[in-house]
Amino acid sequence: MADVIGLLNGPNLNLLGTREPATYGRRTLDDVVSRCQEVGRRFGLTVEAYQSNHEGDLVDAVQRMAREGALGVVINAGAFTHTSVALRDALAGVGLPFVEVHISNVYAREAFRHTSYLSPLASGIVVGCGTYGYELGVRALGHHLGLPLTA
Ligand code: DQA
Repeated sequence: MADVIGLLNGPNLNLLGTREPATYGRRTLDDVVSRCQEVGRRFGLTVEAYQSNHEGDLVDAVQRMAREGALGVVINAGAFTHTSVALRDALAGVGLPFVEVHISNVYAREAFRHTSYLSPLASGIVVGCGTYGYELGVRALGHHLGLPLTA
C-alpha cells in the first residue's frame, strides 16, 4: 500500500469555488483535492482528504490519521487556525509533521488573522499563493519527508 498523507480542511472550505472568490478563487475543494492527489502520486503518496466545519471532528481526524500511519498532514484549518488550542494540541500530541496552508495572505488581512496557533509547530507554512498553495504544501511535505519526486 502506498504511503498516506492527510489533506485536512477546516470550516467553510467546503464552499471553495463560490465563497468570496476574490479572496479564495474559483477552484472547488474537489479540484484542489484532485490536484493534490496528482502531486502526491509523484512522491509515491496517497493523499487522503477530509473537510469538516467542526473543531472536534478535525481533532478526531488528526488522531485517526496518526493512528492509521499517515506520514504527515497538509492542513488549512480555516478560522480554527486563529482560535483552536485543541487542534494545535492534537497536532502536537500525535507529532506528525504538517504543512500549514492559507489560500489568502492572512498577514495582509484583519489583525485577528495574523495569529496562528499552529504555525509554531508547522514544518512549513504556505500563505497567500491562492489554491495553488495546497499543491505547494504537498510538495513541501514530500520534500520534508525526504521523498524523491518522480517525473
Ligand atoms: C484561510 C484564512 C482564514 O483566516 C480564514 O478564516 C479561512 C481561510 C485561508 O485559506 O486563507 O477560512 O485559512
